[in-house]
Amino acid sequence: MKKIFAANWKLFKTPAETRSFFSKFKEVVGQATGEVVFFPSAISLEAAVETTKGSAIKIGSQNCYVQAQGAFTGENSAQVVKEIGGTYILIGHSERRAIFGETDALIADKVAFVQSLGLTPMLCIGETLAEREATHTFRVLETQLHLGLAKADKSKPIVVAYEPVWAIGTGKVATPAQVAETHTDVHSILTKLGFTAPILYGGSVKPDNAGELIKQAHVSGFLVGGASLEVDSFIKIATV
Ligand code: 13P
Repeated sequence: MKKIFAANWKLFKTPAETRSFFSKFKEVVGQATGEVVFFPSAISLEAAVETTKGSAIKIGSQNCYVQAQGAFTGENSAQVVKEIGGTYILIGHSERRAIFGETDALIADKVAFVQSLGLTPMLCIGETLAEREATHTFRVLETQLHLGLAKADKSKPIVVAYEPVWAIGTGKVATPAQVAETHTDVHSILTKLGFTAPILYGGSVKPDNAGELIKQAHVSGFLVGGASLEVDSFIKIATV
């Protein structure tokens, strides 16, 4: 399976900072050993698309609503993302679930809607520390996948990102053994549900742990937060 290196910029980088990042990153992206996707914040999306035009860099948004347009104040339209040249939409990130109350049912509708527009959903799943300590990880991931993919089209592309909540932004990366075990579980759940999808790992991925993590079973790449904000650290991760 092809490798994917994805950058989730969360609520960082203005349009000017986005342009400046890509003017440097475009010079090194040729070294990447897989597809490279960036998820800038909504208002910086167009700057990202414009500055990466003609390169292999893919752009996506961090969220969208389940309708293309209408009376939905403050939401993002996947149709607009498509029109400006985006190809991916991140769905169900743990911050969307925890801070903005997104449910598996809403996430399922988003996955289906994004696929219907011909864009690729990147569905995020992951357990909290309490769930891992209570040995509920498998059950949590199985539920998130079962419900989140309930309306998905198996014949259309989809990417899954496994991000243990306790490893996000904490500097506390999952061990290679935990990553191998959990990705194998995610792979088997997906197979049982009839889906084939690259499975990315996310959660405190850095240049010094990416090399070991990419070797683990069923790891097809990474979804990177903090370390994707600098050209040097992200290209090191994208060349493992
Ligand atoms: P960090 O790489 O900063 O831990 O963030 C991971 C993440 O949430 C990517 O979606």
